[in-house]
Amino acid sequence: MRGARRSGAKRWTAAAVLVLAVLALAGCGQAPQSALNPAGPVANMELQVIGLGFWIMLGVGVIVLGLLVAIIFRFRARRGESALPEQVEGNTRLEFVWTVIPVLLLAVLAVPTVKDSFAAASAPDPSTALQVNVVGHQWWWEFDYPSLHIVTADEMHIPAGTQISLSLTSADVIHSFWVPRLAGKLDAVPGRTNSMWLEASKPGDYSGQCAELCGASHALMRFSVIADSPSAWTAWVHTMQHPNTTPQTPAAQAGFKDFATLGCSACHTIDGTTFQGTIGPNLTNLGLRKGIASDSLSNTDANMARWLADPPALMPDVIMPNLHLSKQQITDLTAYLEEQK
Ligand code: CUA
Repeated sequence: MRGARRSGAKRWTAAAVLVLAVLALAGCGQAPQSALNPAGPVANMELQVIGLGFWIMLGVGVIVLGLLVAIIFRFRARRGESALPEQVEGNTRLEFVWTVIPVLLLAVLAVPTVKDSFAAASAPDPSTALQVNVVGHQWWWEFDYPSLHIVTADEMHIPAGTQISLSLTSADVIHSFWVPRLAGKLDAVPGRTNSMWLEASKPGDYSGQCAELCGASHALMRFSVIADSPSAWTAWVHTMQHPNTTPQTPAAQAGFKDFATLGCSACHTIDGTTFQGTIGPNLTNLGLRKGIASDSLSNTDANMARWLADPPALMPDVIMPNLHLSKQQITDLTAYLEEQK
């Protein structure tokens, strides 16, 4: 009997240690997409509202659960008691108090929530903010910088320390633009334009994710916001505005011809060439990007070859078909696309 009790206690201790370890270890590791690790003024502002709500709810939880536990112990049936306790129905003063307190708490929460919702919708200084028009597609993000005449996809370069004014829409279904470390999410809805702004205080690579179920490859609809130092930003803008489009190696020259004849150019634009398709992402300076396939694969020759060989195998339901390219065509197209940077 005693042995059984001891092994039961051991099991409970082991379970408690395991639960505590899981809770503690859950805090380890990196948090590249955590709104609790803000990297700009909009995310900071939003974290303050989250924090206010958290502390209010924690306070309410502690008080309510504390009272509940205290009442259970204080008024429990004692040994030998069998009669029903005095039955109370209604208490106007108590009911008034527990109606008014939540109303006051919600009012306290509502003020910064409403104020910050308006503040997050448009850049405080439209005259200096950089405008980027964002279009969600199944499954990639288009970034159009009208003042710079740059269009790119899946990697949005921005100058650090500058307010970025975003106009969001969608070409097909509803998507949601979310870079947790820079700003809260906002829907990209076909037929309408939603606006928000963000700013990265320091240079860095901030990962984003579509946050609205938008089809089979929703989970792969990733993107990055790359905040550049002033010199890196100037260099990126210059490279994007003056792309080097002449293929250099023999393989790239063959790839350039394939791009024109195999149908690639019907869907894709490469600035500075006659390739002006607009169904798929703009591929100008593709070699500069760190990711391909909606930032779901790192941009290596091997991954590019895998992608070209069978896009739907890597991204279910993607519009780009399997073109049944030969090994040689894949090698040449990879050389052509990766060379441009
Ligand atoms: Cu786009 Cu989910």
